[in-house]
Amino acid sequence: MRTPIIAGNWKMFKTAKEAAEFVREVKGKAEIPGVESVICAPFTALPALAEAVKGTGLKVGAQNMHWEESGAFTGEISGPMLKELGVEYVIIGHSERRAYFAETDETVNKKVLAAFKYGLVPIICVGEKLEEREAGRTKEVCKTQTEAALRGLTAEQARRAVIAYEPVWAIGTGKSSSAEDANEVIAYIRKLVGALFDAGTAEAIRIQYGGSVKPGNIREFMSRPDIDGALVGGASLDAASYIQLVEGAR
Ligand code: 13P
Repeated sequence: MRTPIIAGNWKMFKTAKEAAEFVREVKGKAEIPGVESVICAPFTALPALAEAVKGTGLKVGAQNMHWEESGAFTGEISGPMLKELGVEYVIIGHSERRAYFAETDETVNKKVLAAFKYGLVPIICVGEKLEEREAGRTKEVCKTQTEAALRGLTAEQARRAVIAYEPVWAIGTGKSSSAEDANEVIAYIRKLVGALFDAGTAEAIRIQYGGSVKPGNIREFMSRPDIDGALVGGASLDAASYIQLVEGAR
């Protein structure tokens, strides 16, 4: 059985102080047995967040990392720097990073490999743009992105990875995918993982849906057999809403 995982992607929201306050509000409530609950905060909030979640069931994630351990890469943050803080997860290849910060399938793959090298679990984002969906290319795009992201991983690593299927047109628009469509694409990605690795890996890997997930629709997504949780932007910023999302994933 796969453990469902709710991950809040705070994007460029919340200071360190606000992050600590958020944990005070959700502590003991957004921790439900059988659901993994991860908050992915801006780098500057990570030390405060990691401190605040100590002794709770909440986990901490970053939203990006560089693939090198250290070096002359102005403005970048490495895996060991995150690991030292107690960060366990790292979002890799979010569509906003692909669109605004020139991330490619190649850099995504380097980061995924580096995440495992430095003891972090990547949450790998894949998903089609509106024009790609309208052209009937959803599965083809997800296949290319997934294959590239997982290149060079062992089956043991792949089964611990998390994939987030986030159709770009559904992010921040209030227009989520239907649960049926999301499940179809996620089942397709799972089958692809089986072809790349083996049936056990396909069965074990967790694949989330992301894109306008809210307390009001989380249960609908979770009722589908292949959807293992959600990567949530806007609705993860409010403590009460975040608690409901975790509850809805049970
Ligand atoms: P929203 O939940 O705000 O649509 O954002 C989704 C997302 O990009 C999560 O990574």
